[in-house]
Amino acid sequence: MGVAIPRRYLDLGDLAIARGVDPLKFTLGLGAREMAIADPSEDTVSLAAEAGRRALAAARLEPSKLGMLVVGTETGVDHSKPVSSYVHGLLELPRAMRVYDTQHACYGGTAGLWAAVEWIASGAAAGRAALVICSDIARYGLATAGEPTQGAGAVAMVIAENPAMLAIDVGISGASSTHVHDFWRPLGHRVAEVDGHYSVQCYLDALAGAYRGWKERARAAGLLHTATLASEQLARVCYHVPFCKMAKKAHVQVRRCDLDDARTLWDVAGEEASAAAAFRGQVEPSLVACSRIGNIYTGSLYLALAGLLDRDAARLRGQRVGLFSYGSGCTSEFFSGSVGPRVVERVRALDLAGVLAARERIDFGEYERIMALNVPAGGGNQSPRPGSFAFTGVEDHRRQYARSSS
Ligand code: HMG
Repeated sequence: MGVAIPRRYLDLGDLAIARGVDPLKFTLGLGAREMAIADPSEDTVSLAAEAGRRALAAARLEPSKLGMLVVGTETGVDHSKPVSSYVHGLLELPRAMRVYDTQHACYGGTAGLWAAVEWIASGAAAGRAALVICSDIARYGLATAGEPTQGAGAVAMVIAENPAMLAIDVGISGASSTHVHDFWRPLGHRVAEVDGHYSVQCYLDALAGAYRGWKERARAAGLLHTATLASEQLARVCYHVPFCKMAKKAHVQVRRCDLDDARTLWDVAGEEASAAAAFRGQVEPSLVACSRIGNIYTGSLYLALAGLLDRDAARLRGQRVGLFSYGSGCTSEFFSGSVGPRVVERVRALDLAGVLAARERIDFGEYERIMALNVPAGGGNQSPRPGSFAFTGVEDHRRQYARSSS
């Protein structure tokens, strides 16, 4: 895995004060501490390319071993030319490979992940690997309820046979989809439209369907026994995290679904306390990075996974974790995987703490200045950080990028 985030962030305490909101609403109510703010030189392409470069370096994979590059995004930069084609050029990847984007709101990255996993599992990859990148800049209107849940970032994953970090349970997943208008971004709009409270309900309804589907398949495959609750047989569960409190609501929902087949096992009256304890043990460890970056749409679930492995890699080796991906609109999938044998070494290369520490805090005035800028026409005037890429503007309708020399 490789993670790339903007160089700047806003502390949500500063946003709360400026908006006249009790800071506890953001920290306790939403579970958010900071949000990443992309400046004009950082766009979906530059973040994706940086995350991809980091993932290839961490896996020590020769680009010639790649047969597929997929970028999941809902904040692309062109109606036709995919983000992946820019990344393909910036990373100087080989010609003999498939290169495309996948889109379904925050589920887009998971669509790319499954395409890669099933390509490898089918044997069609013939020993080659795939690079899957989730990259987005999440923006809501200023002073709206969604404002404190913004963020930006990219997570890249090398998908290969004999995985080092996580071996996905191929064919064991549950999906749930419905046509709803919970969150969308009409063509030409820079910020999302959202029916916030309804979107939370849509997420929870989708989760119930997807989780029940996963349980059924996992049981049929002999991955689950009946002596304890299904969710407790997962060492940890990572969720799509639009804001951290959502993961708490999600885990309560999963335990509610466990009630389907565990009425006799379960002390319903004590469930509130058990759900809170289960959340602390199984979910909270994945949320530290999410609470400091915000919603990164397609990459959000995988940022939670990276954060979890960053914290607990050695303890989790060989254990099964659950993953839930949700994309508004909506589609969703619950799946699982076992933590791989070389996870500790790969987490060291991921260096999530270093990525977070390299940021600079901005004040509210600077935040408002950045949000008011008319990107994309201008591009940025910041030169790229070592090893990274910067969007420098549009010339003759062509987006231009600079890459650092080191
Ligand atoms: P809101 O209406 O401003 O907030 O918007 P609220 O009044 O519901 O309060 C939020 C929580 O803070 C509540 O807790 C309050 O009690 C608590 P809850 O009842 O939920 O447990 N609270 C406080 N706690 C402590 N001290 C205080 C205090 N005041 C209040 N003083 C909303 C919240 C999530 C709706 C808004 O932020 C929003 O619209 N966000 C964007 C949409 C979103 O993230 N939806 C999530 C599900 S959809 C999804 O995940 C897909 C998505 O990622 C897009 C994609 O797929 O591409 C968004």
